[in-house]
Amino acid sequence: MRARSPPGPSPHDPPRVWPEGIDGHPAHPYDLETLDFDRLWAGREKTTALEAEVVRRAIVGAEGPRVLEVGPGGGRITPVLRRKFEEYVGVDLTGGFLDELRARDPSLRWLFRADVESLPFVDASFSAVSMIRVYNFLLHPERAIREMYRVLEPGGLLILSYHHVPSLGTLFEDVRNCLKDPRPVGFVPVTLSRKELLLPRRARVRQMIRSAGFQIASERATGLEDFGPGRWLPITTLVGLAEATSHSSLLPHRFLTARKPGLPRRPPAGIGSIVRCPDCSVGWVGAVPGAEVPERCPGCGRRSTASPAGIPSLLPTGSGGPADRASH
Ligand SMILES: C[S@@+](CC[C@H](N)C(=O)[O-])C[C@H]1O[C@@H](n2cnc3c(N)ncnc32)[C@H](O)[C@@H]1O
Repeated sequence: MRARSPPGPSPHDPPRVWPEGIDGHPAHPYDLETLDFDRLWAGREKTTALEAEVVRRAIVGAEGPRVLEVGPGGGRITPVLRRKFEEYVGVDLTGGFLDELRARDPSLRWLFRADVESLPFVDASFSAVSMIRVYNFLLHPERAIREMYRVLEPGGLLILSYHHVPSLGTLFEDVRNCLKDPRPVGFVPVTLSRKELLLPRRARVRQMIRSAGFQIASERATGLEDFGPGRWLPITTLVGLAEATSHSSLLPHRFLTARKPGLPRRPPAGIGSIVRCPDCSVGWVGAVPGAEVPERCPGCGRRSTASPAGIPSLLPTGSGGPADRASH
C-alpha cells in the first residue's frame, strides 16, 4: 500500500460503533476510521505482492465485464482487478478511504460508500466480487456472503480472504502476548477460543459459503511471508506454497474462491441500471454520480448524499450514515 496519511474522521463520515458484547463476543477491537494503513503495511510490500499474485491467479478463469471490490481500503488489490475487468465498482464502509482512493486515482469513477451486509445493487449485477482482508471486520459475515451471492450473476466468481483460528499465526501471537509482562490490556488468547465472531474456524466459513449456494472452487493459504525466513522466499515459491498448503491450517490467512452455479450471462449494461436504494430496494439511477435524474429515491424519497469528493453514500438508514441526517 502506498505511503499516505492515516485516514481520519470527517464530518460526512461518522464513526461506526461496534456494539459491546455482541452475541456474547468482546467489542470489536478495530476503529476503522483511524485505521493507519501506513503503520499497518510498513515493510510488508512482499505480502502485498504475494496477495496481488494470488488474486491474479484466482481470477484468471473469471468471465464477464464487471467486478465489485468490497472494502478496497487503500487500494492494494485494486490494480489487479482493474487489469482483468472492463468495469470496476468499489464499495467501502469508510468514506475517508474512498475519498483518498479517488484523490489518488480520479479515473476510479464508480466508488460508493456502502455496507457489504446490505449492498445497494440489483440481483446479478456483477461478473465477479472480491473481498480481501475484510471478512474479519464484519459483524454479520453470513449476511455479507448472502449479499455477494445475490449480486453475482450465475456463473460469477467470488474471491475472499480471511484470517482464521487455529493457526500457527494465532499460536505465535498468543504465546508472545502471554510472555509479556504486563500482558497487553484486553488480551484474550484466541487459538483455542470457541468465540468465532472475528476469527472464524475454516469449517464455519466453508459452511457459510456453501449454505449461501456457492460451490467452493479453490483455497490458498498465505502468511509465511510475514514470519522469519519466509520473508526471504521469492514470490513464486510463496505462491507455490500457498497452493500446496491449502488443506492445512498452519498458515493464518486464507484465500477462497467460489462460484455461483449457473450458466454465465452478461450483467445489465451501465451502472445506472444496477444501483438500487439501500432502504427500499427500488432501482435508483439518480444515486449514480453524474446522473441528471432526481436526486431522491423514486421508491421512498430518500435524498442522495455524497462526500465532498463526490462519493455517494448508499448506507442503509439507521446505520449512522449521512442518510440518517439528511431530511426526508
Ligand atoms: C484491512 S482493510 C483491507 C483493505 C484492502 N482490501 C486490502 O486488502 O488492503 C478492511 C477494509 O474493509 C472495509 N470494511 C469493513 N467493514 C466493511 C463493510 N461492512 N462493508 C464494506 N467495507 C467494509 C474497511 O473500511 C476497510 O477499507
